[in-house]
Amino acid sequence: LTKKVEMTNWEKGHYINYAKMSENLDIVRKRLNRPLTYTEKILYSHLDDPHHQELERGVSYLRLRPDRVACQDATAQMAILQFMSAGMPSVATPSTVHCDHLIEAQIGGEKDLERAQSINKEVYDFLATACAKYNIGFWRPGSGIIHQIILENYAFPGGLMIGTDSHTPNGGGLGMACIGVGGADAVDVMADLPWELKAPRVHGIRLTGKLSGWATPKDIILKVAGELTVKGGTGKIMEYHGPGVDSLSCTGMATICNMGAEIGATTSLFPYGPSMEAYLNATKRSEIAQFAKANQNNLREDEGAEYDEFLEINLSELEPHINGPFTPDLATPISKFKDAVKANGWPEELKVGLIGSCTNSSYEDMSRAASIAQDALDHGIKAKSVFTVTPGSEQIRATIERDGQLKTLEDFGGMVLANACGPCIGQWDRRDVKKGEANSIISSYNRNFTGRNDANPATHSFVASPDLVVAMTLAGTLNFNPLTDTLKDKDGKEFKLTPPSGDGLPKNGYDAGRDTYQAPPADRSSVKVAVSPTSDRLQVLEPFNAWDGKDATGLPILIKAQGKTTTDHISMAGPWLKYRGHLDNISNNMLIGAINSANGEANKVKNYTTNEWNGVPDTARDYKKKGIRWVVIGDWNYGEGSSREHAALEPRHLGGLAIITRSFARIHETNLKKQGMLPLTFSDPADYEKIQPDDKVDLLCTELAVGKPFTMKVHPANGDASFDIKLAHTFNEPQIEWFKNGSALNTMAKAKK
Ligand code: F3S
Repeated sequence: LTKKVEMTNWEKGHYINYAKMSENLDIVRKRLNRPLTYTEKILYSHLDDPHHQELERGVSYLRLRPDRVACQDATAQMAILQFMSAGMPSVATPSTVHCDHLIEAQIGGEKDLERAQSINKEVYDFLATACAKYNIGFWRPGSGIIHQIILENYAFPGGLMIGTDSHTPNGGGLGMACIGVGGADAVDVMADLPWELKAPRVHGIRLTGKLSGWATPKDIILKVAGELTVKGGTGKIMEYHGPGVDSLSCTGMATICNMGAEIGATTSLFPYGPSMEAYLNATKRSEIAQFAKANQNNLREDEGAEYDEFLEINLSELEPHINGPFTPDLATPISKFKDAVKANGWPEELKVGLIGSCTNSSYEDMSRAASIAQDALDHGIKAKSVFTVTPGSEQIRATIERDGQLKTLEDFGGMVLANACGPCIGQWDRRDVKKGEANSIISSYNRNFTGRNDANPATHSFVASPDLVVAMTLAGTLNFNPLTDTLKDKDGKEFKLTPPSGDGLPKNGYDAGRDTYQAPPADRSSVKVAVSPTSDRLQVLEPFNAWDGKDATGLPILIKAQGKTTTDHISMAGPWLKYRGHLDNISNNMLIGAINSANGEANKVKNYTTNEWNGVPDTARDYKKKGIRWVVIGDWNYGEGSSREHAALEPRHLGGLAIITRSFARIHETNLKKQGMLPLTFSDPADYEKIQPDDKVDLLCTELAVGKPFTMKVHPANGDASFDIKLAHTFNEPQIEWFKNGSALNTMAKAKK
């Protein structure tokens, strides 16, 4: 138990702490006195305060200490810029950054990578230098997709990781609780703040039987998605167990955990077992495998553990599935798929088949795919549809190049794309159909929402195992079931494809391929972080000002928003994402989607100093220039949607002081507090109606105290007498310090000094 085993081969001095795990679980067991699920074992062993933390599933907010943080290049930009503004010399928790999202697929891996390196040079230079400066492992463009790199190098059984990407749960394939978060959470953990998570409920999925023939691990999650729908996992961790688990490869389990994101699950988990051991050995982490084996009682559920919900799947009876179009939970077993195509009028011709991505690019996936391709080539035929292959990492690419699968897939007609997200995240310069033209594509990826892959809303995107993708690509039509139908060989003779087969792990070990990792240098003090002052994509952040200690009077209402105001209304995505590393530029989208109650229009508010109607960001900028702070009035559940931290940073940056609403989405409320803003709610929600957009308000900030209401004085624009409104808030003591110091980061920086 007390053995010292490094978490990863890439860093020194960060050990797996199974002793602490055991110790914390002893404390928690005494308190709960019941068998624990594996989920609980991981979460409770990472509690900041196991003695006093409330532990009610679905109710309590857990304060946790994750082992690691991982960021992809798109979300890393603002996270690191924020971290930098705290002025700390190094991240407090081991962290890595992965360049995978910004590489566009166009003509093939090498060329596409070169182009991306030039287009994104300033972003890559910034990330490379900032990682070097702040002690973060940096995986250069070409290294592979974040989740694959994590599985190959960093995930370990019993660990807890947060990652700034929805498919972070992929690491559950190695028994690590890997949870997707927004950038704000990553910054907290990098800066040594505990991380808060509502104690998830636990959904048990018992697997029995054994997969065979064309059925793959992907079909398990496709089936689960069909059963539970895209909302079925919300607030839950999916915990797989049962005798069927042992027949799955570690990478297959990762595929299942990866796609748990499609049902909204917090994450998914598998217990430690022999295939994890084999994978750890194959990826040069035998020490971890031995250590985990010695601690395996803590790395699985207790006998008799109770689940909040339950599902059982017999793998022996599982049929391959195809899910889609437009949503990953529309699951159709292959035997019924032809009928579904006809009944729904989906375009029958298959234009493109895509395999790989973070979801399905393991050695096993590629070997099985290549076995089908080889079968076809042996019969003298090739892919009819356009066919692409995205290796998940440089290690996978190099290994399948060495072992021949890559050549087989190329001979079959495949175009090998860069080891990166590419078409999965819409980084695809697709030229074979015009925008708006209805067509079908099928991939082994995870998400297939409208427009995700190629920005064409008429593209019908289906998701399946790599095996089915290759088979369908060969037929060139959706009306093909490789389990029952025949194809014609080069002489016109009919044949049936042999069910796929392939090794789970490379017999000769993995080939690491090109060196794509940049470790932080021993001497980091001389490293200069590269941000050009003229850049329009990156901007160094200054710490926000501390509170001036005074009540705020005569504040204008920038906008009284009515109806739904999501984080998308507050900080729109799409073309704005280009500026996610430049707070001032991206602030030009602040609240442009919110509806002004004064006129029912978006992005049109009155500037009280000029009486002119103008855009929301312009008006805020004018107030800021004139030294006038402002507030926003909002409706119910303000700030729902994705946890985008820009939605809290922008109002702070443009001079907002408070957001006053009928209610908040919790994550946005916390994000506002972290940035030093005041999220306040009407004690009586009906008071929302009493305020007119032209009114001015006073906020008695000096009254801010835990559990006490807060007074807002309203000065009506029509000259009526001023009146008070009571506001509620959820600040606790430490959060009040955030407000006083100007932000959570300022507070952290102060404490470190
Ligand atoms: Fe990238 Fe798609 Fe995975 S965007 S991280 S390959 S889900």
